[in-house]
Amino acid sequence: MTEVITGDLYDFPQYYDLLFGSDWKAEYRFLEHCYARYATRTVTRVFEPACGTGRLLIKFAHKGYEVAGNDLNPHAVDFCNDRLERAGFPRSVAVEDMADFQVRRKFDAAFNMINTFRHLPTEKLAEAHLHCVADALTKGGLYVLGIHLTPTVGERMESESWVARRGNLQVNSHMWSKELDLKKRNEHLGLTIDVYTPTSHKQIHDTMDYRTYTARQMNALLRKVPEFEIVALHDFCYDIRRQIEITAETEDVVYVLRRR
Ligand SMILES: C[S@@+](CC[C@H](N)C(=O)[O-])C[C@H]1O[C@@H](n2cnc3c(N)ncnc32)[C@H](O)[C@@H]1O
Repeated sequence: MTEVITGDLYDFPQYYDLLFGSDWKAEYRFLEHCYARYATRTVTRVFEPACGTGRLLIKFAHKGYEVAGNDLNPHAVDFCNDRLERAGFPRSVAVEDMADFQVRRKFDAAFNMINTFRHLPTEKLAEAHLHCVADALTKGGLYVLGIHLTPTVGERMESESWVARRGNLQVNSHMWSKELDLKKRNEHLGLTIDVYTPTSHKQIHDTMDYRTYTARQMNALLRKVPEFEIVALHDFCYDIRRQIEITAETEDVVYVLRRR
């Protein structure tokens, strides 16, 4: 029998981490290339705002970087800290709002890769977030920020699916755009997660909201945060050799911002 749960995927870090944790390599490698190419200082300390389960942070910790982060969801933060601790690293992730935090010692780089920034529902919070990250970085440090823009010409991506398996656990997820309100700058998404073990099937029904950004709106926001200069634009292919130019059709962009 299927157990149906109406809930929040982020409250199930073990499923989130299985789904998205397996996808870490391209992002990780790209981030290291960014540090080497675009930062004007050596990157040894990295911070991830809204780090969730810390699927990338744990990899950086194993490589010898000092890592820290924050997230609003205490389940995700516990999962992340427990994993860091099990591997012999400090419990360096805090329950905090990515639009309202301060760090004790500045970092050389920060990253926020898969649309997470779009969870911030207003311009004021988005701007506050960018100021918080800028304040957390040393001069010459980087903020690598990946988001889907809303194209103003052509088709946009309306759904995405992922499948992941570890041992006897299989997790399938499907996310689709339920409503796009460009006036309110909100995209309402549906999300279904099927969790299979040999003896059970659980289905989690979730919804989430993302603030929308056209290229122009994103540029207008970035202009309000002069602490950052845009040093490069890439896309979700995570190919350091290939910079992109944003056009009206562009959807996925990784902004590489450098702290002035
Ligand atoms: C798509 S997950 C990304 C997690 C992680 N950055 C990654 O790449 O796997 C989005 C995360 O953002 C967190 N989040 C949403 N709004 C937040 C806020 N205002 N402050 C901190 N975390 C937030 C959620 O709890 C969730 O863990």
